[in-house]
Amino acid sequence: MESRVRNICSFLGLLVILLRHSVEAQANGDCPADGRTWVPFGQSCYHFVHGEEDVAKRYTIEEAKNMCRGFALLIVNTTSVNNFVVQYSPEVWKNNVNIWLGLYYDTDDDQYKWFDDSVVSFKNWVEGGSPDWDIPLMDKCVVLHSTTGKWENVSCTKDTENGVVCEAAQKPVVIGKKNGSPLLSALVILSVIAILGVSAVVWFFHQRSNSGTALLPSFEYHPPFRAPSADQTCLVEAEELEETS
Ligand SMILES: *[C@@H]1O[C@H](CO)[C@@H](O)[C@H](O)[C@H]1NC(C)=O
Ligand SMILES: *[C@@H]1O[C@H](CO)[C@@H](O)[C@H](O)[C@H]1NC(C)=O
Repeated sequence: MESRVRNICSFLGLLVILLRHSVEAQANGDCPADGRTWVPFGQSCYHFVHGEEDVAKRYTIEEAKNMCRGFALLIVNTTSVNNFVVQYSPEVWKNNVNIWLGLYYDTDDDQYKWFDDSVVSFKNWVEGGSPDWDIPLMDKCVVLHSTTGKWENVSCTKDTENGVVCEAAQKPVVIGKKNGSPLLSALVILSVIAILGVSAVVWFFHQRSNSGTALLPSFEYHPPFRAPSADQTCLVEAEELEETS
């Protein structure tokens, strides 16, 4: 019986920890949940394509866009985003990588624009670079060197680059929101059902083993749990689990 109580307690403790962690994860802001690693920074989330996903290793800007699966290519419109990209890159890439920027050359306005059509105010051109006038304007694209953070003009179609970073807007988390996450609510409901179910089964077998063949146990003589001691075991168990997690 004791071991059963301990098992249930471990289970409850784990549930509490899981629930708490899922709440904490939400407090970090909402990044896309598409199974890939999204790093929150500022108002956005960033996915650095690397590892197994980085099959082709080199991409034209069109291929880079496809790697982002509907999300946008990296927009670097502030110094802090530029620094963030340089600082995070070594976490995923060993050497310098030329990261495609979400820029296109607007031949009507005769200037670069971000893919969301915002004007380019922050720039970080490499010193002594060239405007590369041999690249047709329509085919002008920009890469960011991951080690220096400096930008360089390249051809969108002839050059293949090895760095792809995708960007998604980070959904702000409303604290104390009335209708919380449906996932969280479902988790809570499922947990309660699971706890009730397990308790009932344990109680049933405990009663049956104690009262021999009698299927309907008597409440008077066989209280289901020694309530206070079981509660205390639970608290201790939960704390132990929390510490080791
Ligand atoms: C920079 O771009 C992001 C979208 O990537 C946008 O939300 C933000 O307002 C822009 N900031 C500036 C200073 O242009
Ligand atoms: C890249 O091209 C743009 C527009 O033609 C130009 O303003 C910029 O100076 C060039 N960058 C470098 C590093 O030469």
